[in-house]
Amino acid sequence: MTAPALELDHVSVRYEAHGPAIVDDLMVSISQGERVALVGLNGSGKTTLLMASVGLVEHEGALRVCGHTLTHRTLQAVRESVGFLFNVPEDQLLFPKVLDDAAFALLRRGMSPQRAATRAREALEALGVGELAQAPLHHLSHGQKQRVALAGALVSNPPLLLLDEPSAALDPPAKRALAHLLSGLDAAMVVATHDLEFAAAACTRFILLERGRMAMDVRDVAAVRERL
Ligand SMILES: Nc1ncnc2c1ncn2[C@@H]1O[C@H](COP(=O)(O)OP(=O)(O)OP(=O)(O)O)[C@@H](O)[C@H]1O
Ligand SMILES: [Mg+2]
Repeated sequence: MTAPALELDHVSVRYEAHGPAIVDDLMVSISQGERVALVGLNGSGKTTLLMASVGLVEHEGALRVCGHTLTHRTLQAVRESVGFLFNVPEDQLLFPKVLDDAAFALLRRGMSPQRAATRAREALEALGVGELAQAPLHHLSHGQKQRVALAGALVSNPPLLLLDEPSAALDPPAKRALAHLLSGLDAAMVVATHDLEFAAAACTRFILLERGRMAMDVRDVAAVRERL
């Protein structure tokens, strides 16, 4: 049997040693290929949970990504299994030129620069920003930066995508295109979002966090809409 894409076994996260649990004793298993929307009010712990899942924030309990239990030793393997989109695109766009940014994940995995550039161009095109490949990043609008950051998260075809509000800066057609793109991928994904219409279009399972605790885990977005 294949390992779940993401498994949380009594996972809690605190920012201070004796402070409150921001993520509070979560038990969740997300199968390979499953598309999950993570919803909840501001401050409910969505970003914290995504960050903990790639070791950017310390956690208690056991967290497994594609069968790797997250520890300092497995951190690199875990991160190679994950395409991560930060809430703020500037947090992950490192290079002055768009194409170099989109190709970075591939170059880091040892792909030749030429192949990486071809793949990065395809990823940018899939997100509707192919024509910006040669543009300097600082010339881009916020939504264009978000799409470039998404291209960088998707370009290596990782088995798990952790996306923090991927549609936040997108215009309505780009949002619809992204939901369509995500629902056609084989990857499992956890998509933190406040946009229930986008969540319903992209995902088939909906997890609602309330103060770091699992309040709902359902297949029907209407149930979540009623509660929020
Ligand atoms: N670095 C930090 N240090 C201390 N507390 C933090 C830190 N980051 C987040 N928090 C707190 O953790 C709680 C959860 O924040 P988090 O960003 O995970 O929420 P969220 O569900 O992503 O909210 P939003 O919908 O606004 O993005 C908030 O109360 C926040 O103040
Ligand atoms: Mg957040």
